[in-house]
Amino acid sequence: MIAKWWLMAGVILALAAAPARLSAQSKADPAADVEGGKLLFNGMCVECHGAGGAGGDAPSLNRARLLHAPDDAALVGILTNGIPNTNMPRIRRFTDNETRQLVAYVRSLGKIAEAKVPGDAKKGADIYGRLGCASCHVINGAGGNFGPDLSDIGFMRGAAYLRQAVVDPGASLPKGVLQVPARGYAEYLPLRIVTSQGGEVRGIRVNEDAFTIQVRDQAGKFYSLRKSDLELLDKQTDKSLMPSVSSRLTAPELTDLVAYLSSLRGA
Ligand code: HEC
Ligand code: HEC
Repeated sequence: MIAKWWLMAGVILALAAAPARLSAQSKADPAADVEGGKLLFNGMCVECHGAGGAGGDAPSLNRARLLHAPDDAALVGILTNGIPNTNMPRIRRFTDNETRQLVAYVRSLGKIAEAKVPGDAKKGADIYGRLGCASCHVINGAGGNFGPDLSDIGFMRGAAYLRQAVVDPGASLPKGVLQVPARGYAEYLPLRIVTSQGGEVRGIRVNEDAFTIQVRDQAGKFYSLRKSDLELLDKQTDKSLMPSVSSRLTAPELTDLVAYLSSLRGA
């Protein structure tokens, strides 16, 4: 009796589900696509792009205009191939259904108003000036180039990442560094080098091949060294050459500084 009831319930459920499934295959159902895309996104993309595409190590996607994906065809291209020479990988081969769902979800993010980052960006800009960040960073063409250009850092990184980058630079380093040197931040590998003559160089790797390594120190001096001439070549993947400023900031000031960095979204 019970078995028969279950059987009937099963048939009814199957009947109820069938039209929905059919329509999902034959004709796109926008709301269902967004839901399906969200599931896929949470499984495969959230780790880099953050919940709801708010940004993390990878750029936020909750924007009306995506740099690499001005239209849906370009977005499909990214899903199919990744973005070559960046840390955006080709995840796997998606079915047409999955691709459509991911596109629907990513586009839906652009329509939700971005969560407002707390803090006062204007005050944050003053703090940025006071702390001398510009001695190492360029914003819109002005500043030093020891560290990465921050002109569009608010596009590239979420607020949580930016906060960590300022408070604990070493912690945010291994994610960006070392992987693909095509982007600026992948090149900021700190090096400590001792030459056979006993000279010491501390700086950032600019380039490297099998026989030589190029380094730029904090004063902007450039070195090209033959590896066979080196006593020590220490790649400090767990260190950052950016000083932590946590002790020079109150909590509200830090929030303002992060608000300022988040507001930097290129031209
Ligand atoms: C391993 C980390 C990682 C994963 C996983 C990942 N991405 Fe990305 N994605 C990136 C990075 C890094 C970039 C920025 C590339 C660049 O411009 O340097 C990016 C860029 C993008 C862009 C272009 C953004 C723009 O402004 O043009 C889209 C769209 C995108 N990813 C979608 C996705 C989707 C959808 C998934 C899941 C299927 C995904 N990504 C998974 C790291 C990742
Ligand atoms: C002595 C030079 C120096 C100073 C001063 C400096 N930075 Fe940096 N910064 C770097 C370097 C080098 C990196 C790249 C390596 C890393 O992330 O640690 C970096 C990375 C960053 C990043 C992460 C960028 C990314 O794409 O991941 C942010 C954000 C940042 N700095 C903000 C600031 C702010 C805000 C200040 C001022 C409070 C500041 N920096 C002062 C050298 C510096």
